Amino acid sequence: MPVLKNIGVLSSGTTSGPQGQVYSISDAALVWRDETIAWIGAERDLPEQFASEKSFDAKGALVVPGLIDCHTHLAFGGWRCDEFVQRCLGRSYSDIAMAGGGILSTVKATRALSKSELLERCVGFLKEISTFGVTTLEAKSGYGLDVASEIKILEVYRELQKRPEIQLMPTLLAAHAIPTEFKSKRGKYIALIVDELLPRVAAERLAVFCDVFVDAVAFSNDEARIILQAANKVGLRAKLHVDQLADTGGASLAAELGAISADHLEFISDMGIQALRQKGVVAVSLPLASLFTRQSPLDARRLLEQGVPVAVATDFNPGSAPSFNLPLAMMLACTMNRMSPAEVLNGATIVAARALGLHADIGSIEVGKRADLALLSASSVDQWLYNFGSNACRATFKNGSLVYGAL
Ligand code: NIG
Ligand code: FE
Repeated sequence: MPVLKNIGVLSSGTTSGPQGQVYSISDAALVWRDETIAWIGAERDLPEQFASEKSFDAKGALVVPGLIDCHTHLAFGGWRCDEFVQRCLGRSYSDIAMAGGGILSTVKATRALSKSELLERCVGFLKEISTFGVTTLEAKSGYGLDVASEIKILEVYRELQKRPEIQLMPTLLAAHAIPTEFKSKRGKYIALIVDELLPRVAAERLAVFCDVFVDAVAFSNDEARIILQAANKVGLRAKLHVDQLADTGGASLAAELGAISADHLEFISDMGIQALRQKGVVAVSLPLASLFTRQSPLDARRLLEQGVPVAVATDFNPGSAPSFNLPLAMMLACTMNRMSPAEVLNGATIVAARALGLHADIGSIEVGKRADLALLSASSVDQWLYNFGSNACRATFKNGSLVYGAL
């Protein structure tokens, strides 16, 4: 039973506590058996039976639960630096998308990669993501947009699920954009998703969730309803990209469809907030995307004050958020979304776990949960998020194994 000693401060939310609440133990120690946390407390109270076990020295680090990035578009080909330059000079994200750039240009680059090329790229990303203390990641398809290419991406995710550093939760996002070849026959593309892709993905258990991008440049509420009701029938729970560029009633749609999360939400209405609260849908804030596309950020305070939990994630993708730096997104959630550092820590751990249906197993440091930990050079959670200049993570444990750093 390994012991982590010499923890400066251990800080974590709890499975059922309010989002603003974090408990802290100074000069702490932590014990786990196999993959599961067995004892937590002040080191001076460490039971004698653990004293001679194998130990790791945390060297005074701040220890928090392994971070959970509950919204990424991990697998894609190429980058879109050219569009970044155009947007710097004033061209809008929607304008680029309407002109056939945006998502569709990444689709071309993604289709061109073989499965092993895509896998190699994703493995590289995962290794780097792990250096930020991230131990669980949701990953969407959505840059294939035909049966073979969407399956290729989900098969890459299946391979990545075998890796030790990060637990990966795959999402089918075939409804990310209408592919060029279906431009004038939208109904046929939706039928392809419903009749071919969804049954296959469900039969081969290639995804846990099904997502739809609802927007004027993507899919309508009615189209999302058709796809997500079909997904629900084959056992894939709904997630939604909604109210990102305008209020389209997307939050209410997420509530109506029993979605596990509603993501983006920069333009959420008061009615939308009430709908999320009533149906217990987790809101997911993606401040890197708001910042990078110059959107006005989600006012998370409005949601938190009305009892809607708010997760924080990166939205890592080549268009609106080309970064997997979750601690940076967390700092921005404090400053742009008006969340406290404690709310943000929970937003990227236990609330994010809830957005993935994993809250019974991960997302907080509690006896019986998995030993997923991030060790940080900081004296407190507040200090960690305040000093956002460099990566504070010194080591990462996933399922009780050291997967990044040396102790
Ligand atoms: O979450 N909103 C839709 N999808 C992505 C952007 C994808 C892209 O631009 O490639 C997002 O922001
Ligand atoms: Fe996204």
